[in-house]
Amino acid sequence: MRASMTAGESGERCKGLACIWGNPSGFLGGAALTAMALKNAGQNKAALDLLAPRAGDSVIELGCGPGMGVRTALKRVGREGFVAGVDQSATAAHYAAHVVHGACLEGRAAIMRAEVADLPFRDSMFDRAFAVNSFQFWADPARALREIARVLAPGGRLVVTQRAASLDNPTNFAGAARGMERISQATALLKAQGWRIVDERCVADGSRLLAVSVLAERPV
Ligand SMILES: C[S@@+](CC[C@H](N)C(=O)[O-])C[C@H]1O[C@@H](n2cnc3c(N)ncnc32)[C@H](O)[C@@H]1O
Repeated sequence: MRASMTAGESGERCKGLACIWGNPSGFLGGAALTAMALKNAGQNKAALDLLAPRAGDSVIELGCGPGMGVRTALKRVGREGFVAGVDQSATAAHYAAHVVHGACLEGRAAIMRAEVADLPFRDSMFDRAFAVNSFQFWADPARALREIARVLAPGGRLVVTQRAASLDNPTNFAGAARGMERISQATALLKAQGWRIVDERCVADGSRLLAVSVLAERPV
């Protein structure tokens, strides 16, 4: 159990102001979490539509930020399901715990401050896992993916989703232009570790690209 492990013990990929998104803390981090809560519903929906959790499933979100993905996943798995959210940032973990406090009290959700490469959960505990706008900040993505495989049950599936922008129709959102590149990087790592790539998908909002995702099944 390393739920108390602090952010950055294995290094951080965000630098300077980018850390309000990559490891939010303090007043600015709180404001960034509110912005994520208001602006990332489209990516959370894209990730969960592709992940397709079933009623009663156990699901984990890696880098849950303000907890909106956890809240949406709880609706998908129903009252018999369970959703955990982990985030390296204490500010994010507190924010998310407030957002889903009712489900936490009922034992249907848990929010932990933890590093994705060192998850405080037993082997094969989850049916599904997802990460939204978080992969790009992982200090050691190969180790993180091995750790996610460890906590997934046989046949368990992972979705990695990134905000994306069409080249001819960019958005102002930080990092959106590189969403496609990051999913390519995730896909290459997944393949190298023996995950089965099940699907890759882009979701558009009108003429603008909203999200790009990869769905993969845990190595046997
Ligand atoms: C841009 S936010 C996205 C939050 C949320 N998934 C969303 O889309 O609204 C990225 C989050 O991932 C978390 N994060 C980044 N690297 C992480 C790591 N290695 N382990 C755990 N959490 C991490 C950050 O602390 C931050 O809260």
